[in-house]
Amino acid sequence: MKYFIVTYGCQMNVHESEKIAGILEKMGYECCQAREEADIIVFNTCAIREGAEDRVFGNVGNLKKQKRKNKDLIIVVCGCMTQKSQTAQKLLNTFPFVDIVIGTFNLPKLGLYIEAVKKGRQLEILEEGDIDETLPYKRTSGDNAWVNIMQGCNNFCTYCIVPYVRGREKSRKAENILKEIKETVETGKYKKITLLGQNVNSYGKDIEGGLSFAQLLKEICKIEGDFKVSFMTSHPKDLTDDVIDVIAGEDKIEKYIHLPAQSGNNRILKMMNRSYTREKYLEIIDKIRKKIPDCRITSDFIVGFPSETEEEFEDTMSLVEKVKYDSIFAFMYSPREGTVASKMEEQIDQDVKNKRVNKLLALEKKLQRESDKK
Ligand code: 5AD
Ligand code: SF4
Repeated sequence: MKYFIVTYGCQMNVHESEKIAGILEKMGYECCQAREEADIIVFNTCAIREGAEDRVFGNVGNLKKQKRKNKDLIIVVCGCMTQKSQTAQKLLNTFPFVDIVIGTFNLPKLGLYIEAVKKGRQLEILEEGDIDETLPYKRTSGDNAWVNIMQGCNNFCTYCIVPYVRGREKSRKAENILKEIKETVETGKYKKITLLGQNVNSYGKDIEGGLSFAQLLKEICKIEGDFKVSFMTSHPKDLTDDVIDVIAGEDKIEKYIHLPAQSGNNRILKMMNRSYTREKYLEIIDKIRKKIPDCRITSDFIVGFPSETEEEFEDTMSLVEKVKYDSIFAFMYSPREGTVASKMEEQIDQDVKNKRVNKLLALEKKLQRESDKK
């Protein structure tokens, strides 16, 4: 029996697909390279922008023929997109050949759904869930090992669906994280450890008497072995001096920070509920440059947020020029149902968003050339 996993979205999903692979292999399935050969196909979906969801609908739809040929084929759709019950229901209604539709918190029960599949189609969306420390995983990212340190997000940036589909922030216990990293390093196969969380800098705030993110980093660096640590994603409002100091002082920590600014304009940042200003953001960048001169810095930006004017967009352009990022990701704002920004007036026309994103991407190309030269 063979499995094939299709992963959309961020590194968190890539790592969760490693857990899906772990669960399936424990059940006796083997990995295969083409979906045509598979007995079970899992779509691990993303909800961050509409485009990601459209692709899932397209690709799941394409399986109709394969299922007609092989009635025993099991099709599972899980992840952020199906955590929204309306979308999950729509998927099940649109594609009568899909067997299992579950949300992000149902993953630990994946094996049970598969075992029960003969009894009929299943739809279940749990509303919350703890991090399951017992899930097996199969690492698939070369010499890089993803290590989840927390899940969820409490920030509620007004454009973002993540807090709705990943729940509130929950940190893993430091002892479990350290044990996982130690065991991973001891295999000798992994030279890079990448810590994952939607907002890694608020690690530990939900555990009374627990370690802070800076303290966790220090403890990780005490683990013996030849490896480098990096982490994502940082929120500028929580990137405190102690974290910058640890990055500066520890050889094992990669000199790299992904620090999404999202916009360079204060009115838009406020509407986004980002809790910092352009000036505050630039102060943090200054601090990083002073304490870690060789640090690579990257960022995410959203263009065409509701009511964004041409001048306000130009503030984003000037911020990017000023910071001289090593690289940036530029996204067109995509309204997500249920978020505050999706209900705001003055949504921006698609062609204006296109123009702005192309302008920003042209600037990104220029930066990239300069960074490569460096
Ligand atoms: N529209 C466009 N981009 C978004 N992002 C998050 N939500 C949206 C949205 N609704 C971007 C942010 C975030 C990155 C992962 O995706 O820039 O940092
Ligand atoms: Fe979304 Fe903001 Fe949380 Fe990042 S910090 S996951 S953008 S709500």
